Amino acid sequence: MEQPATAQKPQPDPASEQREEESVHRALERYYRSGKPPWDTGVTPPELVALVEGPGALSPGRALELGCGTGTNAVYLGQRGWEVEAVDLVDGAVDLARQKAAEAGVAVRVLHGDATRLDELDVPGPFDLFFDLSCFCGIPLHRRDAYAAGLTERAAPGARLLMFGYGPEPVGNPVPEVASWAAGVTADELRARFTGWELLDVTPGTNPVPTFWFTLRRGA
Ligand SMILES: C[S@@+](CC[C@H](N)C(=O)[O-])C[C@H]1O[C@@H](n2cnc3c(N)ncnc32)[C@H](O)[C@@H]1O
Repeated sequence: MEQPATAQKPQPDPASEQREEESVHRALERYYRSGKPPWDTGVTPPELVALVEGPGALSPGRALELGCGTGTNAVYLGQRGWEVEAVDLVDGAVDLARQKAAEAGVAVRVLHGDATRLDELDVPGPFDLFFDLSCFCGIPLHRRDAYAAGLTERAAPGARLLMFGYGPEPVGNPVPEVASWAAGVTADELRARFTGWELLDVTPGTNPVPTFWFTLRRGA
C-alpha cells in the first residue's frame, strides 16, 4: 500500500557541519587580521546603557558576554560594577579585549573559546546578565540549540539576555557556504530555542537592513 508522504527532516551531516564551522571561523579571523572590523566601533550601544544605567536599571551582578570582540562592552560593564566574563572565538580579538581591559584597569576575564561549547570553558556562572552583540546571528544553525542550552544552564533565576542580531538575509550572504549568515535571527527562533525564557521585548534596530534588539528573561 502506498504510504502517505511525510515531511523529511534533513539528516545532520557532521562533515558539512564541521566545514561550516571552519568557514565561519576563517571568515571571522580574516576580518580581525584585515585591521579594524566594521563592527568594532568602540561605542557601547544605548540599549545596553539603558539596561545598566537607565530607569529601572539592573543591579550589578555577574555578566557573561558572548562574542565580545575587542571588549568594548565587557569593559563598560566592568566599569559599572559588574563582575564580567567574556568569550570570543578569535584569539586576536581576545588579545585586544584583554589589552583594553588592562588599559582601563578593570578586572574582566576574557576567554578564548566557543560560545556554543561553554562546558569546555571555565564559566560555571550563574550569571544575571548575558550580552550578545551580533554573535548568535552568525552562529551556524546546528550549534544554536547548544548556545541556548549553555546560557540556560548558567542563568540565575530571572537572568536577562540582551541580544542584538541581524534579521534574515540582511545584506546578501558574504560567505555563501555559511548558511547561517543568511538566516540571521528572528523572534520566533528565539522563542523556540530558549525554552524556560520569556521574550520580553523586540525592538527594531536603526540599521539600513533589518536588525533587532531582543530582551529575554529566564524564568524564576
Ligand atoms: C559581529 S562581531 C561583534 C563583536 C562585538 N560584539 C562587537 O560588537 O564589537 C561577532 C563576534 O562574535 C564572535 N563569535 C562568532 N561566533 C562565535 C562563537 N561561536 N563563540 C564565540 N565568539 C563567537 C566573533 O569572533 C566576533 O568577534
